[in-house]
Amino acid sequence: MPALTTTLLQGLLLLGSSFLQWGNAVPLRRADDCPGYKASHVVRSDNSITADLTLAGSACNLHSPDLTDLKFLAEWQTDSRLHVMIYDKDEQVYQIPDFVVPRPSGSLNSDASLLDVSVEEEPFSLTVTRKSNSEVLFSTKGSNLVFETQYLRLRTSLPNNPYLYGLGEHTDSLRLPTSNYVRTLWARDAGAVPLNTNLYGTHPVYFEHRADSGLSHGVLMLNSNGMDIKISNDNGQYLEYNMIGGVIDLYFMAGPLPFDVAREYSEITEKAAMMPYWGLGFHQCRFGYESIGEVAAVVANYSAAGIPLETMWTDIDYMDQYKVFTLGQNFPLVEVRDLVSDLHSKHQHYIVMVDPAVAAQGYPSYNRGLEADAFVKTSAGVPWKGEVWPGTTVFPDWFAPNTQSYWDSEFATFFDKDTGVDIDALWIDMNEPSSFCDFPCDQNKAASANIRSLQRRQNNGDKKGLPNRDLLFPSYEIQNAAGGLSNKTAQTDLIHSGGWTEYDTHNLYGTMMSEASRNSMLKRRPDKRPMVITRSTFVGAGSYVGHWLGDNVSAWDQYLTSIRHLLQFVAFFQVPMAGADVCGFLNDATEHLCARWTVLGAFYPFYRNHNVAGARSQEAYRWESVTAAAKKAIDLRYKLLDYIYTAMHKQTVDGTPMLAPLWMHYPKDGNTYAIETQFFYGPSLMVNPVTQESSSSVSFYVPNGVWYDLFTRKAVQGAGSTITYSNIPDTDIPVLVHGGSIVPMRLESANTTRALRDKPFELLIAPESDGTASGSLYLDDGESLEQSGTSEIKFTLSGSTLKAEGTFGFPTVLQIKSVTMMGSGDAQSYELNKGFDDGWTVNVGSLKKL
Ligand code: NOJ
Repeated sequence: MPALTTTLLQGLLLLGSSFLQWGNAVPLRRADDCPGYKASHVVRSDNSITADLTLAGSACNLHSPDLTDLKFLAEWQTDSRLHVMIYDKDEQVYQIPDFVVPRPSGSLNSDASLLDVSVEEEPFSLTVTRKSNSEVLFSTKGSNLVFETQYLRLRTSLPNNPYLYGLGEHTDSLRLPTSNYVRTLWARDAGAVPLNTNLYGTHPVYFEHRADSGLSHGVLMLNSNGMDIKISNDNGQYLEYNMIGGVIDLYFMAGPLPFDVAREYSEITEKAAMMPYWGLGFHQCRFGYESIGEVAAVVANYSAAGIPLETMWTDIDYMDQYKVFTLGQNFPLVEVRDLVSDLHSKHQHYIVMVDPAVAAQGYPSYNRGLEADAFVKTSAGVPWKGEVWPGTTVFPDWFAPNTQSYWDSEFATFFDKDTGVDIDALWIDMNEPSSFCDFPCDQNKAASANIRSLQRRQNNGDKKGLPNRDLLFPSYEIQNAAGGLSNKTAQTDLIHSGGWTEYDTHNLYGTMMSEASRNSMLKRRPDKRPMVITRSTFVGAGSYVGHWLGDNVSAWDQYLTSIRHLLQFVAFFQVPMAGADVCGFLNDATEHLCARWTVLGAFYPFYRNHNVAGARSQEAYRWESVTAAAKKAIDLRYKLLDYIYTAMHKQTVDGTPMLAPLWMHYPKDGNTYAIETQFFYGPSLMVNPVTQESSSSVSFYVPNGVWYDLFTRKAVQGAGSTITYSNIPDTDIPVLVHGGSIVPMRLESANTTRALRDKPFELLIAPESDGTASGSLYLDDGESLEQSGTSEIKFTLSGSTLKAEGTFGFPTVLQIKSVTMMGSGDAQSYELNKGFDDGWTVNVGSLKKL
């Protein structure tokens, strides 16, 4: 018998009973022609609907065998969250393991929910509606579900011209295009963060805003397989998931307001990790600092230039030939420790990078990893080899039982406080995972030959993935910008410990490394909040780490697209600690760009200048105008640090995004829906950067209402139209304070955030037209994981009565020295001198003018 026929026969025999086999039907070419499913035994209870789904005709086997028997479950989990799952009857199809992304649960009587769901039996479809106005939010009617072993297609119709946001990571427009648009989700090392491609992280969640009602909802497809999400209007307006595996696992969030959707999503992702206060300081990094002396010189140059430097970073240059957990000859331990002690003595900080890839070169960390059986293996049972900075490398298998303890002990030794590199926080990179070769990486050619036999043996059951799939070249090819699935990453037919395939779990790698690395950092310093900044992220990553936006370019368009890229993470994906490389990573920054970017970056939660090896140096002190811009921007950032720390804390407690696009604040103002170069920094400040290289003016949108210029402290009447600021120097950026706000600020800035914490406060009051205002302030010690006492203070102004109420548990001798009241004329400051021991009420009219 010819080999091919034998293989085919073997394949057929091994196919599970729950799906039809290849060859039963003439393959059709279009998903629309597939038969869909028929629902039976539809049972609606108070809090759920269950049904059986059976393939409604002969299999179309479009890209792989259809599954004949599925289950449907809809469960009302909270008043605003509905969970819908469509999964295989035998539960063999891969599902995201709960220990990687813990699923939210809950059970609620459907009467109490904002959402309803209905099922049509034949052809099966599901429709989710908002009860209050009967709006259809999601409906698969008119397009048959396709559920195959390696291809799932689910399409929802949408209103024309929908307002959709999210589905990252991408640098495309904030409001997603509505025609001929494909968002591919497959974690990729994506230099230059190009438009319209898959980037480092994958977040299959979208927010949709309905202009007619002014209401928003959100939809998460909790699926980690590679997918193309198509948004188009070629046959009515729709959004269509095309996934190469996994199950349909949808969470609908009812809103109804945009901020409600964000808060509801934070219940699914778990709340974001709070960062240390110092983490919000200004950071300097670059790839290409070739010696510890050079690193120390940069620190000294910042000091000499009088620019506050909070944290110095070192890229992979510190390693011996780029091997993780080693020091190169230009970074002798004694000198590294001296620099770190010096930084610490000045209340500055130090961070280095760790990559996942471990050099396969017989050095101690590699040997210990082998002993611990901690690396991802091929079918031949040997660690799979890729190609990263040190050359041939192996990769930790985060599923393996010993990997956490291996990682912990590497951290404990290398980053030992007394004998090692005493880092304050951690930077993790290349964790898509990135490997420089296309499939197959040369080192593994022999091993690859064995893979198919492995796949035949593989039948994990237990939601770890169906057997007999083509894990390397599935017939449906997602639009991965790297080409085949296994290009520039771990090959997708690798089986992680426990039986999880790289094919199914690729998109989780960065988040699993994030969690493990955070754990290792926690073990080093159990009492301190770990700060870990990662490149690759998945749903829920923000509960462990922050994210820098990867390898951007020192170019004007990227200075601008950084805003929409940033807003995705903070406002939609619940990763508040985010920011782009200030001045840009690739290519040479110009002085003008670097100055403007240094000012814009002061409004990123994560504020770091970073540059690629070989590019022109771009530390803030390199140019006069950038020095001036950095001083002014950092001065303002630090005065506002407690305001933004308060906003970050709020996001970590209830999911309210600390930065937001305008439409989230103005859901009824259609002019805001597509704005992506202005944003809210905290609840009260609207940041409106200059957008063009050639112009020092910017025209920006000001929603209706009273606003105040943060710098002139004069009123600006918003009329739902554009206003223009001209002659804006490179050191400046227009920022408006929203009427109705009280912004707590430090009266002065400082050289470090430690010194800043000793500075007194002022309250900047921006009254609404009716004279009212409010704002809040959160105080804690800035770094302890468990706080012994915190203060959460709400300030309100009504008439001339100014009040502070709340909890006052954080011990401090600091005072709010003054109040500055803005109004129709010049702002007026008053002496206040109130501490933080207890609440108080004052009549502003009776305060002494300053
Ligand atoms: C890629 C990262 O994105 C970049 O920030 C870093 O400098 C290089 N790797 C070298 O580690």
